[in-house]
Formats: sequence, C-alpha cells, structure tokens
Amino acid sequence: MVTFSQQSSGKFLSTYRSDKWWFEPLWTGLGFLSFVAYTTWAMFQGDYYWWSGGQEGFGGYLSPFYSPLLFIKEAVVGSAPMDHSWFGSWPGWWPVLIPASPAILILAGPLSFRMTCYYYRKFYYRAYFMSPPACAVSGISQKNYKGETALLVFQNLHRYTLYIALGFVVILSYDGFLSLFRGGEFGIGIGSIILIINPILLAGYTFGCHAFRHLTGGNQDCFTCPNGKPTFRHMVWRGVSWLNSRHILWAWISMLWVAFADFYVRMVSSGRWIDINTWGF
Ligand code: FES
Repeated sequence: MVTFSQQSSGKFLSTYRSDKWWFEPLWTGLGFLSFVAYTTWAMFQGDYYWWSGGQEGFGGYLSPFYSPLLFIKEAVVGSAPMDHSWFGSWPGWWPVLIPASPAILILAGPLSFRMTCYYYRKFYYRAYFMSPPACAVSGISQKNYKGETALLVFQNLHRYTLYIALGFVVILSYDGFLSLFRGGEFGIGIGSIILIINPILLAGYTFGCHAFRHLTGGNQDCFTCPNGKPTFRHMVWRGVSWLNSRHILWAWISMLWVAFADFYVRMVSSGRWIDINTWGF
C-alpha cells in the first residue's frame, strides 16, 4: 500500500517508494505496443484471412480482424468467397495507395472500445504519458491539466462504443459457429476451438465493462424493492460485477487471444501450419 505521504515532491520519476513500481507500466506499455504493431501489420495485409481447406459451401475459418467482411476484393490469396461479403465486391473508388484490406474498414470499431476503456486509459496514461507513471511517483507535470474535459473529452464516448463491442461479440460468435463447418459438413478443428474461445473471452471483457455494469445496475436505489426478493436485474448486475472485478485479466487475455486467432488463421491459410481437424484435410 502506497500512501500519499510517500510521494516525493522532487524531480521527474522521483519517489520514496522502494518497490518495483516501474514494472507494471513497463510490461503493460510494451505488451500493448506489441499488440498495436501486430494488429497494424495484419490489418494492412489484406490476404490469408480465410481458410476452408479449398471446400466451397457453408463454413470456414475467418480471422476476427477481418470480420465482418463489408467488401471483398476478388482474386486475393486467402480471401473469403464473395458470398461472405455484406455489400459485395471491393469498391472501385478505393484509393490505390491504401491496401484493399477488409480489416481497415472495421477495426476502428473494436479499437474505439478498447482505447477508451477505463482500464486501458489508466495504463496507457501511465506507461506512455507518464502522467504520472505510478502512484506516488513524480511524472510529467501538466500545466493547465483539464483531465478528460478538454483534449481527451472523446474518452467519454466509451459508453457508446460499448454497443459497437456488443455487436462484435454477436458477429464473432457467428464466426465461431461458421468454423464448425466445411462445405456444409459439420466437424471441428483446432481453428474451430480457437475461434469459439475468441468471442467467449471478448464477451467476458465486454460484459465486465464499467459502462455495462452501469447499464445493468445503474439508477437502482434498491434491488429487492418492493417485495424484498432480489430481482432478475440484480442477478445480472452481480454477474457483471463478478466480471468487472476481473476486468484487467479479461482485457489482456481477450486481446492476446484475438491476435493469436488472426495469426492462426493466417498461418493455416498460407499453408505454413496444418490445421488438425475432423474433415481430414
Ligand atoms: S471499462 Fe473497460 S471495457 Fe468498459
């Protein structure tokens, strides 16, 4: 436990703390940076995001970074069949300097949710802006600091980006279902398991969101009124509170898993890895 009296009034990074306070901002900063670097690279590839073992018909593995497929560019290696596109083939007006990658069109949605998450804000303000780097450690002093009421006021959109995230949980759950078929034949592969776990972890993160907790339990003076029995709403709120108390854990495992799911589909689609499955190919 660090008390306010332990804070040094000295120079940048000075503190009376003797523990390894720097470890958390270090690993969270590097960990998230690695995720952003991989995601950016994968987003610009535009290929190897789909695998169905060459089978036509219902089913296949779709990278979560590319789902939903709003448009699909034809004749690209590792791309999904056109009937998976929501709006058809790739638009002709797309600027030639920007890669024709379906991921570019959708990743802002889930990223807007993560980047405005209360937990993410905490760690990236500490790790990247050192403002401050940890409790009771002197950081970069900010004159005229206005918190999230001025420059960072957009962070308050988090309660709305929650609805985007909820939509992605539904879409990625469907992709998990889709991964259980090849050419319309039911089966299961390592990729199916990965793509089914993915929306479960994302749901654990999304349903533990502070904004969702407020949605389920906010504005309630009494959960057991008027008949003294706990309401259904109270039960939901307790479940959300359980997830909420482990929000950091869900944040990290869901983030790492979604990147791993993309990587797995990419490796299998490009022929570098063999998917072990019941379809026999
Ligand atoms: S507070 Fe983290 S997702 Fe909402």
